[in-house]
Amino acid sequence: MTLAAPFAAPAPAHPMDRLRGLQSTARELPDTPVEIRGQLPPWLLGGSLLLNGPALWDLPHGSYGHWFDGLAMLHRVRLMGGGQGGAGGASASYRSRYLQTEDLRESLAARKPARAAFGTPDPAGFFTRLRQLRHPKVTDNGAVVMARIGSQWVAQTETPLLTSFDPDTLTTTGRIVYDDDEVIHVASAHGMTDAQGCYWNVGLEIGPRCTYKLFRIAPGRRTREVLARWSVRQAGYLHAFAMTPTHAIVWQPAMRLNAIKLALSGKGFIDSFAWNAALGSQIDAVSLADGSVRSWAVPAMTGFHAVQAFDEGEGGTLVLDLCTNDGPEIFAALQMERLRAGQPVGVPHRVQRYRLEPGRSETQPQTLVQGASVELPSVHGAYWGKQRSRHAWFAGFDPDGRAPMFDRTVKLDLDAGCIAGTWQREAAVQMEPLFVERPGSTAEDDGVLLVPTLAEGDAGTVVGVIDPARMQCLATLHLPQVVPFGFHAAWKPAAGAGVPR
Ligand SMILES: [Fe+2]
Repeated sequence: MTLAAPFAAPAPAHPMDRLRGLQSTARELPDTPVEIRGQLPPWLLGGSLLLNGPALWDLPHGSYGHWFDGLAMLHRVRLMGGGQGGAGGASASYRSRYLQTEDLRESLAARKPARAAFGTPDPAGFFTRLRQLRHPKVTDNGAVVMARIGSQWVAQTETPLLTSFDPDTLTTTGRIVYDDDEVIHVASAHGMTDAQGCYWNVGLEIGPRCTYKLFRIAPGRRTREVLARWSVRQAGYLHAFAMTPTHAIVWQPAMRLNAIKLALSGKGFIDSFAWNAALGSQIDAVSLADGSVRSWAVPAMTGFHAVQAFDEGEGGTLVLDLCTNDGPEIFAALQMERLRAGQPVGVPHRVQRYRLEPGRSETQPQTLVQGASVELPSVHGAYWGKQRSRHAWFAGFDPDGRAPMFDRTVKLDLDAGCIAGTWQREAAVQMEPLFVERPGSTAEDDGVLLVPTLAEGDAGTVVGVIDPARMQCLATLHLPQVVPFGFHAAWKPAAGAGVPR
């Protein structure tokens, strides 16, 4: 049985066939065979690639204006042994389900966006917003990241609302209801799970002064245990944070929040931020030992994702490698109208290293690799948050700036400052390369990259299985439909075969 999209419509003809990943045509599919071409490493079998992302941007009476805002769909590609014929006896299946959120239910009923989103205005009236000033009705459209509280998987966006789901069936199992009184209005979309199964994140209470809160939720609990609080006059746009074994690291981009505008204007979330070069940016490091916070002023930048963070030596210096750009243009560049028209993103990205030295209050970044415009980083799971990795893998932009979206998978040598390898399909969009480490491996390039791609003429999304050491394609997985372009993936290993990524 095939379940149609709520408002299925054929994708309009487009000069760039590869941009079908920006259309609202994905369907809910039951387990459906996936063709495997090539040889999968045997240790992958039994595991599942989980994809999350926006899938439904267009409703009969209104559309979401920004890539980030589409209503969320979950996808699972299960890899199995014991198949017949080629592919080394491996087989694979695909299924997809919409994340059943309140926002989805309300928006389907209204047949238009029902809640404010990143780039979508709030349909509620001024007096409604005024009544909800302290507890605004934010979206629970968890289209960005998947994480875990213990064994419970959750999907989330840049709000504190977590929606749990079954990673095997993709059935939505409900909203996480907290049993604390913490006021958190927005949160990093990148909650992360430590080796003990604790969920960690950074939230923000918005007010005359904004208060950051580093918190964790223990497995089986519903309490956000706040380990540190620190206040700032004007918070920066918050998408993710980073961790080392000793610190949580939060960066405040020069996109600074106007809290009154956010509360009352009714505009899209990002429209309540403005670029403030004079105020610049700041990086805060929170001690995991005592919750103390140290800060460093840095030149104005904005950045979504950390490549890595680590403790450098015994002297207390912290290092943050961050994908950055120099202005606010990236937010407008990702509006659906522009992307669907095939306009190149056109905003150079780079990886910058910030050394946060004790006794100093400012630092100047170092651009690690000249000429590499990259984002959506990934490293081996034994390194992320734990130790320094020499190499990292990214979705890359065409250096000439002509391709409409990411069009390559790039390996950077962060020590030598060079591009160490590239994998590219012809005329394709290539999204985040998820690093899946071989169970028990410690070498930083021992695993595979799983890269969703869509090229001209593809019947559906093609996931590249890439050797991260040599940047060569080992196999491709041919999915039965186009997975709309999302942001972040996760790996659920076979039972007893390592930690989910
Ligand atoms: Fe992200």
